[in-house]
Amino acid sequence: MDLERLKVTTAQAGFTERDDPFALFAEWLKDAEKSEPNDGNAMTLATVDEEGLPNARMVLLKGFDEQGFVFYTNYESQKGQELLATLKAALVFHWKSLRRQVRVRGLVEKVTDAEADAYFNSRARDSRIGAWASAQSRPLEGRFALEASVAMYTAKYAIGNVPRPAYWSGFRVKPLSIEFWHDRPFRLHDRVAFRRAAVGDSWNKVKLYP
Ligand SMILES: Cc1cc2nc3c(=O)[nH]c(=O)nc-3n(C[C@H](O)[C@H](O)[C@H](O)COP(=O)(O)O)c2cc1C
Repeated sequence: MDLERLKVTTAQAGFTERDDPFALFAEWLKDAEKSEPNDGNAMTLATVDEEGLPNARMVLLKGFDEQGFVFYTNYESQKGQELLATLKAALVFHWKSLRRQVRVRGLVEKVTDAEADAYFNSRARDSRIGAWASAQSRPLEGRFALEASVAMYTAKYAIGNVPRPAYWSGFRVKPLSIEFWHDRPFRLHDRVAFRRAAVGDSWNKVKLYP
């Protein structure tokens, strides 16, 4: 094994010595937003259905602080229903350009109406119309039905503000664990996990074999 090559990348491993997962995540997200060709804030959201069958899809991280990871969606969609039923989720960020991964597991809560309104009102008008027009995750007879729905809501809200639909809002994943992974040669990657038994507890840090 080329031990010299392993040592060259040791400098990048400094993150395993860090003690604040939120500060570390904020730095990695910033790096990703600079280096990814698009959507550095994209993450896989995993849920389970009522049978315990896992389900995963991409969403965009729209807010992040020590309270957790926030994204927005339709509460009547499949993910919305699964999250409301279980109040649990996992997230994965994979930044290919940086060869980094972050995994999050945690408890889910709804964001406040004020937070949802603020984000909804920041979106482009056509996206706000789209939130009304799309019965996300339910069967669509054809593209024409969607276009007709868009036309209907465009006419309905032709004048004035487009209000936020009651079913369209955000979720916050409050982490119980956050794991950081960075690629190293020979698959001897660096991993560090921060874990806590309850939201609000202090973090327990553990380095993991790759
Ligand atoms: C890069 C990317 C970002 C996405 N961001 C969101 C998002 O923030 N919110 C959302 O509802 N759907 C988003 N989607 C669409 C979801 O992946 C998914 O198709 C949709 O929400 C329906 O999922 P569900 O049937 O599991 O509810 C995104 C898709 C991609 C590929």
